[in-house]
Amino acid sequence: MSSSLASPTEPPVLAGDAAAGEVTVLVCSSCRRAGDGPETPRPGSRLADALADALGAAAGSGVAVRRVACLGNCSRGLSVAVYRPGCWTYVFGGLDETSGADLLEAARLFAGAADGFMPYRGRPEALKRGLIARVPPLDLLKDLP
Ligand code: FES
Repeated sequence: MSSSLASPTEPPVLAGDAAAGEVTVLVCSSCRRAGDGPETPRPGSRLADALADALGAAAGSGVAVRRVACLGNCSRGLSVAVYRPGCWTYVFGGLDETSGADLLEAARLFAGAADGFMPYRGRPEALKRGLIARVPPLDLLKDLP
């Protein structure tokens, strides 16, 4: 399944060392700004690169970054999803090319959260106001009526 999300010309994992139980940031590398031409480098791709660079300076963070082609949030891009196995998944929009450090900070908070929720306190402002959705893990739903 993951191979259908990644661009066939890019490595699926840009950077990072997320292991089981840790956090993966999925960055839409297709997002662009209104008025950008087809030859304009995609700001979503530059955001993925910025996060990969931030991760490169944060070895052992328990966070990885992957590119995806589209998260279906195109009108509110730049868009990312932050995934941690067995926990809620968070979708954010309204980010910009400089959001890499904020994403890394939020992902590290999430990786360290004992309750499986991304803490609101301490989360960078762009990720407080940019929340689009959060999605529960299936395991949480199986016991509900
Ligand atoms: S192109 Fe980025 S969410 Fe669709």
